[in-house]
Amino acid sequence: MGTSRRTVLAAAAATGLAAASAGTAHATAGTAHPTGGRKPVKELFGKLADGTRVHRWSLENGGTRLKVLSYGGIVQSLEIPDRRGRYANVSLGFDNIEDYVASSPYFGALIGRYGNRIDKGKFTLDGKAYQVDVNDGENSLHGGAKGFDKRVWDVEAFTSGSDVGLVLHYTSVDGEMGYPGTLRTKVTYTLTRHGDWRIDYEATTDKATVVNLTSHVYWNLAGEGSGSVYDHELQLAASRYTPVDKGLIPTGELAPVAGTPFDFRRTKSVGEDIREAHQQLLYGQGFDHNWVLDKGITAKPEPIAKLRDPSSGRTLKIATSEPGVQFYSGNFLDGTLVGTGGHIYRQGDALCLETQHFPDSPNQPKFPSTTLRPGQTYRSTTVHSFGR
Ligand code: GLA
Repeated sequence: MGTSRRTVLAAAAATGLAAASAGTAHATAGTAHPTGGRKPVKELFGKLADGTRVHRWSLENGGTRLKVLSYGGIVQSLEIPDRRGRYANVSLGFDNIEDYVASSPYFGALIGRYGNRIDKGKFTLDGKAYQVDVNDGENSLHGGAKGFDKRVWDVEAFTSGSDVGLVLHYTSVDGEMGYPGTLRTKVTYTLTRHGDWRIDYEATTDKATVVNLTSHVYWNLAGEGSGSVYDHELQLAASRYTPVDKGLIPTGELAPVAGTPFDFRRTKSVGEDIREAHQQLLYGQGFDHNWVLDKGITAKPEPIAKLRDPSSGRTLKIATSEPGVQFYSGNFLDGTLVGTGGHIYRQGDALCLETQHFPDSPNQPKFPSTTLRPGQTYRSTTVHSFGR
């Protein structure tokens, strides 16, 4: 074990996150898991305007229940028990395909080819200038107007040992949304016998390109539609973040969180500092920033975040191989959408923790590179562990 890895573990221990080791330290709280893994069940969820059928897969293992759509690889529902064994769907979404197509702010979706923003949708790679789809003011967000969240994926179910899961494939053709190269993408969702939800991303290309894949689940551990998450307690293993300009494009600086509302190294509630008159909170209308994870890029997922809802006792721990996480506090939810359970979603009714490379990396030479070349394989893993 090299010095840098020891330092990472020491840092994780210092922030109290070491126990969240990837995929192993599920807090079972002495409860028998209600069910073992079963073969995923497929049903018709709806049809797109052109008649394409969208299916929903239901999986269950280790006490976690997951429902996934072939459209966008969307997590349509994720149910976990509270401290008394009562289940709730802790992920925002809709109960019908029409709302996902018409008005979803990426609820539960796979994001590609590039998670978060690229400045004006422009970048240069190997001396060649590219213009990708602009869909967020003057910038490109989450892969453009028709990103991976709006594509129909090929889905295959599997059971393997004590795991159950889905393998999702999508091939993005050369030039789609302006990105170079045919990108073959494979995402594996695994539910382990501990009830962990693991995501493994893989991609290959036939021309040099940029890639940054993530998952855009909106968490509310008290249950979707139950109100604000400002009481949720959050911890992030990050001493720095990437400040942004008013278009939410990183300035290039890696700024210390110390002494700012961005310091989540010690657990605090999401709402504690969210109304501080800090310029960055004005830009984001709350938290909508990339935290620079102290562990950096790692071959294996390492613990980076811990979220707890004190009312239900439900907890979520996240481990990732990625160097960053976008913590978005649901700022743009504005009371105009009706969610799965029939309630209106308002500002702060959920939060996202999107593991990622940093926004606008193709234009930021000092950020870890998002370039993928022919012959290389993009790999990224994130594990979500639940407890109560
Ligand atoms: C990301 C972005 C936010 C917002 C949400 C979805 O978190 O950073 O600005 O676009 O997705 O609305």
